[in-house]
Amino acid sequence: MNEAVEGTSLPNESALKAAGSEHLFIHASSHRALANDSGKRILVEGRGALVKDIEGKEYIDGLAGLWLVNAGHGRQEIADAYARQAGTLAYASSTQATTIPAIELATRLAELTPGDQATAFFCSGGSEAVESAIKIARQFHYFNGEPKRSKIIGRRGSYHGATYGAMSVSGTRPISEPYHGPFMHGVLHASPPYCYRCDFRQSFPGCDLLCADQVEQIINYENPKTVAAVIAEPISASGGIVVPPDGYWPRLREICDRHGVLLITDEVINGFGRTGRMFASDHWDLVGDIMTLAKGLSSGYAPIGAVMCRPHVVEAFEGGNKLSHLLTFGGHAAACAAALANLEIFEREDLVGNAQRMGLRLGQGLSGLSSHPCVGDVRGLGLLAGLELVKDKDSKEKFAEDGAELKTLGEGLARRGLLTRVGGVLPLSPPLCITAEQVDKIVAIIDDSLTEMETTHGLG
Ligand SMILES: Cc1ncc(COP(=O)(O)O)c(C=O)c1O
Repeated sequence: MNEAVEGTSLPNESALKAAGSEHLFIHASSHRALANDSGKRILVEGRGALVKDIEGKEYIDGLAGLWLVNAGHGRQEIADAYARQAGTLAYASSTQATTIPAIELATRLAELTPGDQATAFFCSGGSEAVESAIKIARQFHYFNGEPKRSKIIGRRGSYHGATYGAMSVSGTRPISEPYHGPFMHGVLHASPPYCYRCDFRQSFPGCDLLCADQVEQIINYENPKTVAAVIAEPISASGGIVVPPDGYWPRLREICDRHGVLLITDEVINGFGRTGRMFASDHWDLVGDIMTLAKGLSSGYAPIGAVMCRPHVVEAFEGGNKLSHLLTFGGHAAACAAALANLEIFEREDLVGNAQRMGLRLGQGLSGLSSHPCVGDVRGLGLLAGLELVKDKDSKEKFAEDGAELKTLGEGLARRGLLTRVGGVLPLSPPLCITAEQVDKIVAIIDDSLTEMETTHGLG
């Protein structure tokens, strides 16, 4: 047995790394990543927008963990709310009972979410929320006398989760197809509203939103009576922080309504202030028939997700029409208490307002980096932003994801104290409590790190 797990006292850093490398399978990583990949760190504490690693080095948490620590790190009051509820009643059966925090959280979400979304189904995270939304949509049609409506339309480039249904509707599935295919039957994918690399080689507004109209073509071709739902993030994070042009969402909403197709808005990343409004849907007065939530719902203090449903959706489940779906941890009482405490902080500190103000500042700072030869596009809304990196601005040639250039950039960012991911798009999604000084520091770090990459590799 490894030395590190035999001892009772806290092992030193190298012993911890050795134990973690041997016994911990880090998500989306190779075995022994902790030992072999300098990008994997052991983080030990956090406060606000900052985190510290085991070596004592401090970083700005540029992605808020994995796009979710919206209220910021070190919030003792959320921890206390969780502990209080866990000490009173941590859990009650998700099928035979419920709890006070679950009812209070559902009621609070009904107040906060767009339009008449009024009923919450709780689960443990984003993938479960998407699975649940798909099942609710299909069962809705079944109970409404249209059992053949089972197909789901997603969009290329989108990510909706790692479980089978969620992975199947994700537009990133070609990456996992060699290992995990075949996927769920009856899923189709439309073009995203990705103006920088438009599938139709058009530009807005001359395109007249061909990408939205393509969804209608797919619905018509498939036979509308076989289509259950369209699923899409209002702003696609995994697609590369794709902010759709004005008119896209009203058009897509109209298309779904015309064909009796439910619209599932996936706000797992977009929700809870991330884009400078409580929900990204609010930018376009968009109301999904079903909306999926997770991440910022508890700011990462407890694993919890939710599916919000409009009245016409849940009304299909009245009388003897039971939902054929259950999750043991759905509505976990202590997780609900943590989410409620998180939302109280949002209100008291006006985190959504701060996201809007700091988002503007971040956007202006990042736009100032467009003169770098490798910055092809700068886009985003609120504190969800991205820099699209290219080898050449005219050809828009992409960097290899595992190439030397992006490795230099990633190392430069971390050395200067910024944690984020580096790929074709450099994403930013920091805690919403971030300060102006920290926003300026993010921009300065990226500026210096881009210059380092460009000079090291003779770019531009
Ligand atoms: C839009 C979206 N939906 C769903 C998910 C899945 O969430 P989880 O990883 O909590 O299962 C993610 C995860 O990043 C996401 O970005």
